[in-house]
Amino acid sequence: MPAIRIVEVGPRDGLQNEARIVPVAQRVALIDALSAAGLGAIEVGSFVSPKRVPQMADSDAVLHGIAQASGVRYPVLVPNAIGMQNAIAAGAQEVALFLSATEAFSQRNINCSIAESLERAAQVAAMAQRHAIKVRAYVSCVLGCPYEGAVTPGAVAAVAAQLAALGCYEISLGDTIGVGTPRQAQAMLRTVAADVPMQQLALHFHDTCGQALANVLACLELGVTTIDSAAGGLGGCPYAEGASGNLATEDLLYMLDGLGLTTGVDMDRLLDAVALIAGEPGIAPRSKLFAARRAK
Ligand code: HMG
Ligand code: MG
Repeated sequence: MPAIRIVEVGPRDGLQNEARIVPVAQRVALIDALSAAGLGAIEVGSFVSPKRVPQMADSDAVLHGIAQASGVRYPVLVPNAIGMQNAIAAGAQEVALFLSATEAFSQRNINCSIAESLERAAQVAAMAQRHAIKVRAYVSCVLGCPYEGAVTPGAVAAVAAQLAALGCYEISLGDTIGVGTPRQAQAMLRTVAADVPMQQLALHFHDTCGQALANVLACLELGVTTIDSAAGGLGGCPYAEGASGNLATEDLLYMLDGLGLTTGVDMDRLLDAVALIAGEPGIAPRSKLFAARRAK
């Protein structure tokens, strides 16, 4: 068992915000390369409205196209019962719900209140149970909201606890706009962990202000063992303007390797996967490590 579980979100979070729509074949190739690098969980797409996020259209074709490696999880994002139906039809074995700690972001992102999103989540969770599909969940805006500003840890814990009560096996805490700093991240995680066991929590930090890795390190001290990241440091949310990419998987891996924390991920093969997506027109990886290796 690796000491730290990395959840790779590049094919979804990384590509959903790129100006250019990456074709299915290239998305499939990226996911297969990430599987070959040893990642144990790779988020492969979204069953959201293709009018809202055209970059994630054809996620069913992506799911069908990939070589599903044994023991690797391939979750897809699902916002409601329609998305869940489509995910089931595409053969998804794991889905990820996404809610917000703030009302304003909930409205902009998924066009409903937090209470309504929890009702939708309950519907999706019931459908998942009937089909033996595992459910992960995100809470966005855990360290700040693009519309409301500061967010209290209590607001995050309230949504996280309700998602755990619905049977979500893991709740990923998203600093959607990448504004948090280490002590703040620790305070938020401590508060949530008082309601949801630490083993059930993951961190999902965007790196807008260059704090993502420092925030992860601070939170590792508290005992969190699951971290989301995106190959190449791509990513962002179309409804969180100005937010930049996710923490880069290769930068995270470099730190974890240096700390002697096992992940099961091979750095050279991971960089091969980043090189693959860097070969796509208009896609520019933002990680420190990829730039450094490329300069050699
Ligand atoms: P809505 O407009 O409120 O839905 O969308 P509606 O129920 O009123 O339906 C409107 C139309 O959408 C209808 O079609 C529905 O059939 C259709 P029409 O009659 O107009 O032809 N529809 C759908 N089509 C495909 N898939 C569906 C679906 N649902 C309804 N699932 C909805 C609600 C949530 C779908 C919409 O607001 C949406 O797609 N939003 C995009 C949200 C999104 O993908 N955001 C980015 C991902 S979240 C993120 O990045 C944060 C995260 O990384 C964590 C972090 O960083 O914090 C996870
Ligand atoms: Mg995100």
